[in-house]
Amino acid sequence: MRLGLIGFGNIATTLLGLMRQTGLSVEDLTVLTLPEFADETRTRLGADFADVAKDCGVVTGAEGLLSAQPDLVIECAGHAAVTAHVPPVLRAGMDVVIVSIGALADAALESSVRNAAAEGGARLILPAGAVGGIDLLSALGVAGGLIVRYRGTKPPKAWTGTPAEGLLDLPGLGERTVFFTGNARQAATDYPKNANVAATLALAGAGFEETQVELVADPEATGNSHEYSVESPLARYSIRIENQASAGNAKTSVTTVWSVLREIRNRIGPVAV
Ligand SMILES: NC(=O)c1ccc[n+]([C@@H]2O[C@H](COP(=O)([O-])OP(=O)(O)OC[C@H]3O[C@@H](n4cnc5c(N)ncnc54)[C@H](O)[C@@H]3O)[C@@H](O)[C@H]2O)c1
Repeated sequence: MRLGLIGFGNIATTLLGLMRQTGLSVEDLTVLTLPEFADETRTRLGADFADVAKDCGVVTGAEGLLSAQPDLVIECAGHAAVTAHVPPVLRAGMDVVIVSIGALADAALESSVRNAAAEGGARLILPAGAVGGIDLLSALGVAGGLIVRYRGTKPPKAWTGTPAEGLLDLPGLGERTVFFTGNARQAATDYPKNANVAATLALAGAGFEETQVELVADPEATGNSHEYSVESPLARYSIRIENQASAGNAKTSVTTVWSVLREIRNRIGPVAV
């Protein structure tokens, strides 16, 4: 397999570490980074991840990625990178896994990537990320009549750098506090780095407007928990996942990276599950 990565931050580097840890290697790896990080990325790829790919390259634009002809591209860089790089890659016929799913709360961007995938005959893949049960939600979503309620709880420090800072005294918070109640579109717009799960649930199920979201800061929380319930005319279920935060980023649940690894494994192996 020829693999492309957009971004070389916490998720991308943890993913490469997991590939090495689980004995998964690829023919070719091309990493798209911001120009100012290209040299550093090249050095780190050679020093830390040489055994993950037979050949490695670093590029700073979508054209470079296209020339490398990856079989699968994984975006793990954020909203701006989805806007800049994902449409041309899809239009060129390459499948893309998007990790920054919250970016698709921007309706214009969602339609741009959907159109690009259709034009290129490529597939836009939205991984389950930090949560599970997306298979059932997506199946029930087609039947309609869904009510989906999601609650995301993280320790106060995971909400630093978000509008929660203006609503709560995060370092001094004494008790569990719900600071956002609204729909998934608003959650993903106001808390873009923390609302990927809300966006994933919305896209799989009832849509951005109809998916109800609560965001919570809890000083007792040791990791990031995601709870949601689904009511449909066909079935009801609820799920609660208590994730460890990723070592490199308190906002990111570590299972997200394993979920992306699953996308690669399912692509390479003889059985997809
Ligand atoms: N789907 C989920 O469940 C889920 C969970 C956690 C995080 N995420 C999302 O995954 C993304 C990556 O998270 P992370 O923890 O690795 O973040 P990070 O900040 O550690 O890494 C992002 C990397 O992307 C690079 N980058 C930014 N803009 C770029 C561009 N235009 N072109 C190329 N590279 C660019 C940055 O330099 C950085 O190296 C974020 O958008 C985050 O919201 C999704």
